[in-house]
Amino acid sequence: MKLSSRMEKLPPIPTLAMNTKAGELRAKGVDVISFAAGEPDFDTPDHIKEAASKALFEGETKYTAVKGIPSLREEICNWVLDNKGVSYDPEKEVVVTVGGKQSVFNSLHCLLEEGDEVVIPSPIWVAYEPVANLTGAKVVLVEAKEENAFKATADDFKKAITSKTKLVVINSPCNPTGCVYTRAELEKLSEVILDSNAMILSDEIYGKILYDGEEHVSIASISEEMKHKTLILDGFSKTYAMTGWRMGYTLGPPEIIKAMDTLQGQSTSNVTTFAQYGGIAALKGSHDFLNDWIEKYDERRKKIVEGLRSIDGIDVVMPKGAFYVFPRINGLFGLEGPDGVLQNSVDVGLFFLEHARCAAVPGAGFGDDNFIRFSYATSTENILEGIDRIGSAVSMLK
Ligand SMILES: Cc1ncc(COP(=O)(O)O)c(C=O)c1O
Repeated sequence: MKLSSRMEKLPPIPTLAMNTKAGELRAKGVDVISFAAGEPDFDTPDHIKEAASKALFEGETKYTAVKGIPSLREEICNWVLDNKGVSYDPEKEVVVTVGGKQSVFNSLHCLLEEGDEVVIPSPIWVAYEPVANLTGAKVVLVEAKEENAFKATADDFKKAITSKTKLVVINSPCNPTGCVYTRAELEKLSEVILDSNAMILSDEIYGKILYDGEEHVSIASISEEMKHKTLILDGFSKTYAMTGWRMGYTLGPPEIIKAMDTLQGQSTSNVTTFAQYGGIAALKGSHDFLNDWIEKYDERRKKIVEGLRSIDGIDVVMPKGAFYVFPRINGLFGLEGPDGVLQNSVDVGLFFLEHARCAAVPGAGFGDDNFIRFSYATSTENILEGIDRIGSAVSMLK
């Protein structure tokens, strides 16, 4: 059977591939430490589980409005007003999606088509570019330079934007680099966006995971005009350790939200009904647990950065948000290991997996082959042991 030509444009997701490989090794009894998964290692807080469980037993098991139950949409708008300082209409300006991933898929499909251009900084998370390619739009990558902490400047964006640019994507705090755009940087970027025909998709899913006193600013909060040019993507996966619940949301102009609602109605329909009640509890309940989680992430961030910096051939920019580090590993290229000379990030990833029993995701999938991504959403013990193993493996290279 010949598959559609559309599928030829769509590669498998690289972050899952490395995790699967690590799982296969584990099944054979190899003790692999995974730094590959993009999810918190904490469990969903009990009050959220209890609310979903109660809803399930009270019969909340039927279809809801495609865009989500009204009370969840109201709580999202309240939370967004409190946390991002932007006011949205729960009836017309928000849609609850099957994870942030569906928000990417649906917003890009509602806005882009052949002849359009979409500007995406690189390195960045793995989902935007393949989905943009699927719409037929042309992807224009803007280099987010390591020396600028992996942030593209307003000037970089300006140079990439043309009259055909329909959308610009940003992700702050960023997966995989951990960079965080400041208010001043977003103000400059707003001027560029307002001067163009483009909308902006602002992926703010790591907005609550910040270190060193960094502030999360939503570009939609810069001005009322910017609010009308912004789609905010956010969700429950990272902040509340709810990756398996599959629940995210998009906020934006009513005509785009309506189109996303229509597209979702023709594909998945609503997010699982009783899960939506867990979402309400998450937003309304205490967020005290986050202080403890962030303290732990912060300790791990410092340990992993210190450890990676101690290994010859590896260097790291200190991340400011999310739970990833993106070390430069091209200092290992040209060195010979048991399976041959390391030539790219995939070779380094496989070398770490086979010879240090550590799984990380090669930077090639994020747009830069000179790097590799480690998630530090794992215990400090694992981090220290992983660094030890990688250090010993690297010292064997000739
Ligand atoms: C930057 C970014 N945006 C969005 C998502 C989507 O998450 P989910 O679909 O679990 O809500 C992820 C998940 O890894 C991510 O890293």
